[in-house]
Formats: sequence, structure tokens, C-alpha cells
Amino acid sequence: MQLLIVKDEAEFGQTAARLVCEFLAQKPESTLVFPTGNTPLSMYEELVAQFASEKVSFSRATLVELDDYYGIALQDPRNLFAWLQNIFLRQVDFRPVRLFRFNTEAEDAAAEAARMESILQAHGGIDLLVLGLGPNGHIGFNEPGSELLGATRVVNLTHESLISNARYWGEIDNVPSQGFTLGLNVLRKAAKTILLVNGSHKAGILKQMVEGPITDLLPATYLREMPNVLVLANAAAASLLSRKPSLLNEHD
Ligand code: GLP
Repeated sequence: MQLLIVKDEAEFGQTAARLVCEFLAQKPESTLVFPTGNTPLSMYEELVAQFASEKVSFSRATLVELDDYYGIALQDPRNLFAWLQNIFLRQVDFRPVRLFRFNTEAEDAAAEAARMESILQAHGGIDLLVLGLGPNGHIGFNEPGSELLGATRVVNLTHESLISNARYWGEIDNVPSQGFTLGLNVLRKAAKTILLVNGSHKAGILKQMVEGPITDLLPATYLREMPNVLVLANAAAASLLSRKPSLLNEHD
């Protein structure tokens, strides 16, 4: 696992977007899995800017949704795919037929989860996985207690995740209690993974993730056993790490 530390939000977004663009330049027909949340906002902003200046195209790429709230329709502002469409997908040139989302209203959740896994399988798995880090160490909605070989499924969100997601939806009662997530069984096979960690409120969990024991109580620690993982953190998020690599811009 490689750790890259940048100093501020602008550099964070630019670096994340540059890594995505470099990856797509190598393999334009990549299968991508991208996160929602606050953390990747500056990356999406930069990717949209790069697309506008014709430096990147997503027209040959496929995107498979990482996670979403179960029971929340696409028309609901809380739907995570709708959020991603507004922030990013509609502003670049993905082909609609190559976008795959969880049917959050599926009655048979197990069949829907299996359908998403089979889509990934048909595309040869994930080429580039970009993740955020949950405040309790979750990745996607793989909450503490998730097994390394856990499948794509509906999970009950932990109280900590409900509290942290309440800031988006006003109050905790507005946060859906269940979510679909791609399972660690498929995430762990991604050819390349970039974990984005931003802000002083993530410093404690990043330290545990990098320096603590590998445990299912902190699913992000499994990233340490995966091939080709890069953690991109800003200085605030990296502030509690015992051993820090130099700031990225010192090498530029
Ligand atoms: C959410 C999502 C994750 C996201 C994480 C961090 O619950 N399920 O996919 O990466 O929490 O969110 P944020 O970037 O807003 O801190």
C-alpha cells in the first residue's frame, strides 16, 4: 500500500483526478467504481474541468455503482446514483448503456445484488476502484463486521454511519437504515484502488487503518492486503500518522 499526502483541497482534487485520467489514458475501456460523499467532490470538479478542456473522455468506460440506499427511488434526492449523476456523470461523456446502478426498489434484494455482481463479472471485474473512508472504517457500505469474502448485498447501516450521513439529510430519521453495497469479495480484486481521505475528522480512523491491526472491525484495513492500493490523504487527515511520507509537492 502506497501513501501519498497532499497539502490542501485543491491539490487533493487535482491529484485524484490526475490519477484517474492517467489510468483511463492507459485503458480507456476501464470498468470504474467511484464513491459518493463529501470526500470526492473536488476530484469530480476537476474531472469535469479536464473533460471540458478535452483532456479526458469516459466514452469507452463503464461505471458500476459502489453503494446506495435500499428502498430509495432514483427520483429521491437521497438516491446516491442520482447524486453522482448530478455531480459528475451528466457533465461528462459516459454512454448511458455503460452505467450500471443498483435498482434500489428491487423487491428481491438478493437477486439484485447478484445481478450487479454478474455485471462486474461480465466486464472482467473492476479496473479502477476509488473509495472514500467511512468514519467507522467502512468502505462502500461494508460496515464493521463485514467479512473479507462478503458478497454484494443489502446491509443494515450502523448507528455511526446513520449519524454521519444525517448531515446530508437534515436529521437521523431521514437517513435510510439499509444500503446495497458491492461486497469485499469483488472490491478486493480491483486491479487498482485509490482510497481518498480528507480532513482532520478522518485523522483518527486513517491512523487506525494504516497502523492498527487488520480486522473485520475496520473493513478498510483489508486494503492493506490488496494489490496496487494508493491512499491519497490531505495533510489534515494524515496528521496523526506516526510515519509520514513527504508532502507530494516537495517532490514536484
Ligand atoms: C458513506 C458512503 C461511502 C463514503 C463514506 C465517506 O456512508 N457509503 O461510500 O465513501 O461514507 O463519506 P464522506 O466522504 O462524506 O466522509
